[in-house]
Amino acid sequence: MIPDNILNYFKNLDPVSVALGVGIGAILDYIVSLIFSPKGSGQINPGIDKSSAKVATMCPLKDIEDTVKKSDKGVVAYCRCWRSKKFPYCDGAHAAHNKKTGDNTGPLVIKK
Ligand code: FES
Repeated sequence: MIPDNILNYFKNLDPVSVALGVGIGAILDYIVSLIFSPKGSGQINPGIDKSSAKVATMCPLKDIEDTVKKSDKGVVAYCRCWRSKKFPYCDGAHAAHNKKTGDNTGPLVIKK
């Protein structure tokens, strides 16, 4: 049972003041989260070439064509989940990542 004095307190609240309070609280929460979020949270790359400022892979078209031609299946798969031990090539690690996280990542597959 809720005491009457508490019920009366909530009945007498001004809806505009409550909305302003909630809005200001949400904005402050957002600002605090920006300031105190640890650097690196939200990173997609868990461990590939972390000493580099940026991981950019240059693949000349001729090399891609040669790799596809040499492939048994006539395809080459490039990793887009950043979990492959053979990066930039896909090694199937995306399957474990997807199972663990519910994500739906997969490779870029180049075929003849
Ligand atoms: Fe990364 Fe397959 S291992 S997409």
